[in-house]
Amino acid sequence: MKPLLIANWKMNPLSLEGAIKISNNLPRDKAEIIICPPFIFIEKLKKILDIGIGAQNCFWEEAGAFTGEISTLMLKLMGVTHVIVGHSERREIFKENNLIINKKIKSILKEGLTPILCIGETKIEKESGETWDVLKKQLKEGLTGVNRDIIIAYEPIWAIGSGIACSSDVAEEVMVFIKKNTFFDNKILYGGSVNSNNVTDYPSFSGFLIGGASLNPVEFNKIIEIITQ
Ligand code: 13P
Repeated sequence: MKPLLIANWKMNPLSLEGAIKISNNLPRDKAEIIICPPFIFIEKLKKILDIGIGAQNCFWEEAGAFTGEISTLMLKLMGVTHVIVGHSERREIFKENNLIINKKIKSILKEGLTPILCIGETKIEKESGETWDVLKKQLKEGLTGVNRDIIIAYEPIWAIGSGIACSSDVAEEVMVFIKKNTFFDNKILYGGSVNSNNVTDYPSFSGFLIGGASLNPVEFNKIIEIITQ
């Protein structure tokens, strides 16, 4: 099976020209690549590049008085196939809890799209030995009533944007833990400071959720090259 690479661009780049520059030369035949740009670039990128597009967020109601939100149905109508939910930046900055995340996952599945559920512990939780409890709660509450395969991304919060990726051994342990604590045959990704030097450290993962390195076309291409050799 081709490795799955999800590029989470977060709130970057500033212009559509920049977005096209980053994504127009990716070797799409080698890996399954899903670009998750800011909402405002989705429709244009989809049309111009005919590329796999995901969203970084969604709202669970179809339409109505929800100022500032974008519904899962709207995303589907735009050609989005995947939606990231539960990213630590949304949990921390926008106070999204497991209940909200669960509602989002259900709306994504209802529209026939694929959720990418991010789970992960903070540095403090890791150092105080709470990792397993945190991950278990995120999985249990996030996936309540969910009865289909989804994608789960293990993104330890301390590894995101820090340049310090999770060790191969710990990531492997987490992978086993996720499998034990979920019912379906979910794809499991690793995310957190992935780059071309460490991408070979996670051989049993189905792929990667990549932030910073996915904004650098040379580095992103290198990562794809390395994992598809
Ligand atoms: P970095 O790859 O920049 O550490 O970000 C990871 C991430 O948050 C992807 O969702």
